[in-house]
Amino acid sequence: MRKNLVIAIDGYSSCGKSTLAKALAKKLGFIYIDSGSMYRAVTLFFIRNKVDISDPEAVKDALQHIELNFHSRDYESHITLNGEEVSEEIRQMPVSENVSEVSANKIVRKEMVKQQQRMGKSKNIVMDGRDIGTTVFADAQVKFFMTADPKIRAERRFKELQSKGDTITSLEDVFENLAHRDYADTTRAESPLTRAEDAIILDNTELTQEEQLDFALEQVHQHLPV
Ligand code: DC
Repeated sequence: MRKNLVIAIDGYSSCGKSTLAKALAKKLGFIYIDSGSMYRAVTLFFIRNKVDISDPEAVKDALQHIELNFHSRDYESHITLNGEEVSEEIRQMPVSENVSEVSANKIVRKEMVKQQQRMGKSKNIVMDGRDIGTTVFADAQVKFFMTADPKIRAERRFKELQSKGDTITSLEDVFENLAHRDYADTTRAESPLTRAEDAIILDNTELTQEEQLDFALEQVHQHLPV
């Protein structure tokens, strides 16, 4: 039985996992880890260095040249790739369009899972992703599985991109990218996105952020000594 406390949040793309995870971490004084940003940072490295994802040796070699670190400021999770802050760049479309393929790769997943398990070994954490409750921390004390209407998710992500100055990507592009990632995430051979049997379902299509946090805190208090 693990001594530190782990809250695992899995679910579809852009359904508010990180917003809820951050809010929970802040309320509970836990560390927030965004596992998706690790796959995104690896994808950025692969794009920049033209790594051939179909070549296992090239993938292994590339992973040896990647160092990822998190810096938490105000519960915002900032990630560095070999010392360079890439938190903004990894949210742009070139990475979003390639991350499914990279995150489906067995060698990449094995390395990321190892690093994630190391991060959650001794501290109280909230980690969000696709396989946290099923694979990375199958023994997490509290697990959530988040979902929301795909159209609402696309609109949320579209607004987020616009607020960051992206005037090129259309709502249709975002919707298609999400649909593609949902499909890829749920059908891939390695750790597909699926609800852990003991995960609490949270459909936030019609919930405000406050309502989600209240619901999640209530569940956490039922399961954890916090
Ligand atoms: O949460 P996100 O959209 O930033 O994640 C980016 C991609 O990484 C997503 O398409 C699926 C993948 N991912 C994964 O396979 N496993 C995780 N634990 C987290 C993300």
